[in-house]
Amino acid sequence: MTSQRGLTDRDFLLYNRLKDKGYTDKQLLNLYRNLRYVDLTPLLVFDYQGDESGYISDCQANMSNNDETAFVLDGTYYTPYENARPVDDTASVSMLVNKTYFLDDTYTPKNLTALSNLYAAPDRELAGVAAEALAEWANAGRDNDVYFYATSAYRSYEDQQALYDSYVASLGQEQTDQVSARAGFSEHQTGFTVDLAATHEDAYSEFSQTRAYRWASAHCWEYGWLLRYPEDKDAITGYEFESWHFRYVGKDVSEAVHYSNLTFDEFYMLYLKPWDNENNKPSQEILDSTNYLKLIPAAAAEPEETSAPEGESTSEPAETAEADSSASPEATEKAN
Ligand code: DAL
Ligand code: ZN
Repeated sequence: MTSQRGLTDRDFLLYNRLKDKGYTDKQLLNLYRNLRYVDLTPLLVFDYQGDESGYISDCQANMSNNDETAFVLDGTYYTPYENARPVDDTASVSMLVNKTYFLDDTYTPKNLTALSNLYAAPDRELAGVAAEALAEWANAGRDNDVYFYATSAYRSYEDQQALYDSYVASLGQEQTDQVSARAGFSEHQTGFTVDLAATHEDAYSEFSQTRAYRWASAHCWEYGWLLRYPEDKDAITGYEFESWHFRYVGKDVSEAVHYSNLTFDEFYMLYLKPWDNENNKPSQEILDSTNYLKLIPAAAAEPEETSAPEGESTSEPAETAEADSSASPEATEKAN
């Protein structure tokens, strides 16, 4: 293969994944000759582009603004709900649920566990492992004088349907689809997802302005969580920036996603998805060398007992206290 840059094992894994999605060698050569790795990984999530040249032109026009932190294009390359398919493995904490992968109405999480009102509104529940991981994360926050509460957690298929319908009634369907998942397509149904607020009065749109958000989003990955819909990645995630919505995926995966600089959608498609056609799998050598655990620096792979939060708390910008530790979150569910 000729290219203007040297190809690494990482490039080969991506190449084979794109091949598994239907891209031909000829298309891939064109893509690899003209685009960077950051421009190529979104293709794992986007619809198959029969004519890749339009995508190349768009990426080139936006190349100076796009990088690992922001990816904005002029065109649209993803048709939500169009190629919907069931979640690959509903038993996995790192299952992907998005506008393509859905849970059916019979799916309910394992070991639904009530959340303490120290870090959740009343009557909120998560799958057992996520409930434990939320406690660990929220307690680390409290050790740093940061308080946040899950105002929404597990939502059943029916809850999501009612929520989505209520948004459609007020916003219309097009706008609703930017902020709310259709029933079956919400991560909240997994039992591994929370919406956070800094106080009982906090509005979703204001969470991004709080110290709680800054601490929670900076440290979530150390506790198995991901900020699922980051700023300037809506072309890939399908949703506007949601500063409050966090997903538990397990610690190994959250650390690897953090170091990969990919959205979880891209990460899943690259590292976790079962192959559609096993013949497209790269060699075992490449699979071994691109194992996602290798993304985690050795130091982070073996965290010390007293981990980062304490040490880093001093670097948090001083601010007026907006999180009242005695405030208990409201029972009314604000959900998104
Ligand atoms: N607001 C997120 C996308 C949900 O409805 O699950
Ligand atoms: Zn949410």
